[in-house]
Amino acid sequence: MLLAEWKDNASCLTLNEPILYKMAVLIENKEVYSDEVSVTPGDIGSTHSWNWTSHVPLQCASHTFRLKSQINSQMSQLEQENTLHGETGSGMEKVFPQDAVLEVGSMATFCCIVPDGEQFDKMYLSGSTGRNMSTTQISEQRYTLTVQLEEVWDRCVDVLCETKEPTKRQYGSCVYVGYPPDVRDLQCETRDLESVECLWKEGRDTMVKVKSPTVYQLNGR
Ligand SMILES: *[C@@H]1O[C@H](CO)[C@@H](O)[C@H](O)[C@H]1NC(C)=O
Repeated sequence: MLLAEWKDNASCLTLNEPILYKMAVLIENKEVYSDEVSVTPGDIGSTHSWNWTSHVPLQCASHTFRLKSQINSQMSQLEQENTLHGETGSGMEKVFPQDAVLEVGSMATFCCIVPDGEQFDKMYLSGSTGRNMSTTQISEQRYTLTVQLEEVWDRCVDVLCETKEPTKRQYGSCVYVGYPPDVRDLQCETRDLESVECLWKEGRDTMVKVKSPTVYQLNGR
């Protein structure tokens, strides 16, 4: 998730009309989303925030947030811009996210940063553990694979990225796919008003116990 926070310029504090903020998100310098927020005179001077969840993991590509303001249909010349750079791909890892724990049935996006001098061939999940797979090129050396995840029992699934001959190499990341914890029939009882005994049942297995064991905690009161 991208979370942006900003304040109005001090010169706006005396305004009697709303400020219209226009924001845009660019992924690898291509605009993918835009939105606007109107700040009424009573809210001018407070901190404003705005968030947006990218379908592309933030490690995969640069995400740029742009903010412009408009008062009385007069667009300000000033533009605020902030860029989160993704991974460069210069390390060992080329496929992202690494080591993720994801939910069965969700649409997941993985990416491959192809090293210079190599040519992308394909991206896929090992075994048939996903539906509606599609691959997209998002910049010269960056590709994404979008897939609807199917369940896998307590082991990780390889997300593979292969490059073409003559280098023909394989890069990967191993991800876990499961369910959120399923607590049922919680009952607590006290006989002495000092101690309490709680019992519950575990419903469906999370299928990710190896990577992410379920931890139970008493709320503290
Ligand atoms: C993100 O925006 C939504 C909708 O405006 C809001 O309900 C939510 O609290 C925001 N989340 C964060 C972390 O600011």
